[in-house]
Amino acid sequence: MPSSFLLSAIALLATIPATLAQTACNNSPDLCARSYGNITHLGAHDSPFISNASNSYTSSGNQNYNSTVQLSAGVRLLSAQVHKTNSSSNAEYHLCHSSCDLLDVGRLRTWLAEIKTWLDGNPNEVVTLLLVNSDSASAASLDAEYTAAGIKGYTYTPASTSAITPTSWPTLQQMISNGTRLVTFVASLTQDSTYPYLMDEFTYIFENAYENTSPSNFSCTPDRPSSVKGNTATAVSSNRLFLQNHFLYEQQAFGIQTPDTADLTGTNSVSNGTGALGSAISNCTSVYSRKPWTVLVDFFHVGPAISSVDRANSVSNSTTGRTSVGTTYLDSSTTTSAAAPGKGGATTTLVIGMIVMVMVMGL
Ligand SMILES: *[C@@H]1O[C@H](CO)[C@@H](O)[C@H](O)[C@H]1NC(C)=O
Ligand SMILES: *[C@@H]1O[C@H](CO)[C@@H](O)[C@H](O)[C@H]1NC(C)=O
Ligand SMILES: *[C@@H]1O[C@H](CO)[C@@H](O)[C@H](O)[C@H]1NC(C)=O
Ligand SMILES: *[C@@H]1O[C@H](CO)[C@@H](O)[C@H](O)[C@H]1NC(C)=O
Ligand SMILES: *[C@@H]1O[C@H](CO)[C@@H](O)[C@H](O)[C@H]1NC(C)=O
Ligand SMILES: *[C@@H]1O[C@H](CO)[C@@H](O)[C@H](O)[C@H]1NC(C)=O
Ligand SMILES: *[C@@H]1O[C@H](CO)[C@@H](O)[C@H](O)[C@H]1NC(C)=O
Ligand SMILES: *[C@@H]1O[C@H](CO)[C@@H](O)[C@H](O)[C@H]1NC(C)=O
Ligand SMILES: *[C@@H]1O[C@H](CO)[C@@H](O)[C@H](O)[C@H]1NC(C)=O
Repeated sequence: MPSSFLLSAIALLATIPATLAQTACNNSPDLCARSYGNITHLGAHDSPFISNASNSYTSSGNQNYNSTVQLSAGVRLLSAQVHKTNSSSNAEYHLCHSSCDLLDVGRLRTWLAEIKTWLDGNPNEVVTLLLVNSDSASAASLDAEYTAAGIKGYTYTPASTSAITPTSWPTLQQMISNGTRLVTFVASLTQDSTYPYLMDEFTYIFENAYENTSPSNFSCTPDRPSSVKGNTATAVSSNRLFLQNHFLYEQQAFGIQTPDTADLTGTNSVSNGTGALGSAISNCTSVYSRKPWTVLVDFFHVGPAISSVDRANSVSNSTTGRTSVGTTYLDSSTTTSAAAPGKGGATTTLVIGMIVMVMVMGL
């Protein structure tokens, strides 16, 4: 009896560490105790702007899969552009690519509700939004969207209204335990103490240049905000988090830029090749003596970009809970549907885009 009791007790004790080890934060148990600012997050550039079969693979899209699929695959930062428009007679905040006449994917509040649904179903995950504030929405206007989406309960409010050292941010586990798992940065925003969870991006973050058109153009040098531009040491001592842009544009006529999909596989690769994400992370890690806080990519699933991020976080062998969508870039050549209009879809969109640009520019 006593010995079997002892064995049961030992067996029970043995299960405890196993149970704890299964608890993952942002897809790895190794990340729970790490500071939010001391983790490399995979960011989906222009997350809601999707190029897929239903829009004939528009060349205005930066991703092939929607934000829900991105999150389930391991993306933890979503960027988007917020524009003011007027469908109905009232002004509304929509997610539009460059212009709401070019690509309007609907209301900000609808997208926020989609993210809330994902957060509801994934209680151990911390997600960050980076909203490009194209029409200078006030904090109150953005807050109304969060309220309408029912997502305010998840918002994280920083301890300080100015930058703190990256390792001083709370750990993922602290944010999860507090239920404040949604971090929001807005570029740019007049911070309002009534809505302290809405953080002005460039108060807390610096970025390298984002307008690159060649694999040899990537640089680690600070570009924004202007107070740290060109000065690596100033950027580090400002305590801001480093957002590393890593996507390429292809220059079209009339100043229109579309994602460079021809170089995509190399751009998102974990390797050390020219322009590769893995190489770019290594380069910038040497420059700053710390890993980037976020890498922002187009078509996140290609590469896969998450491999470089897992390597940066040293969690390549401990990730769990992701749903992969493969690494194939999807365009009209990858679909067999007879209804697909082939390359005409992208071309038509480009032509419409040019007409819009001509109208906007008054040419
Ligand atoms: C920061 O991350 C490194 C691993 O890259 C880890 O060794 C260190 O303990 C972390 N520090 C904090 C405060 O999270
Ligand atoms: C996102 O995409 C998935 C798979 O393609 C689809 O099942 C889901 O309905 C989409 N979600 C939204 C909110 O569009
Ligand atoms: C395809 O893209 C459109 C946006 O243009 C989006 O509304 C739709 O949900 C996407 N389909 C899937 C399956 O994600
Ligand atoms: C928005 O509405 C105003 C009047 O309410 C109108 O003058 C303007 O042209 C509209 N803008 C767009 C982009 O529809
Ligand atoms: C958790 O919530 C408490 C109470 O609101 C707050 O004092 C504390 O700073 C929060 N911690 C984090 C990491 O947000
Ligand atoms: C980008 O790369 C191209 C091709 O290598 C080069 O001609 C151009 O000068 C580069 N631009 C910058 C800003 O580095
Ligand atoms: C290639 O990447 C690995 C992993 O980051 C790094 O250790 C190595 O120094 C890199 N090699 C070169 C030549 O950049
Ligand atoms: C990293 O730095 C090396 C050496 O300067 C350079 O050859 C390579 O192109 C850089 N990689 C990226 C992606 O910028
Ligand atoms: C991960 O697993 C691979 C294959 O089992 C092994 O070669 C590698 O050393 C492991 N890496 C780490 C960081 O444990």
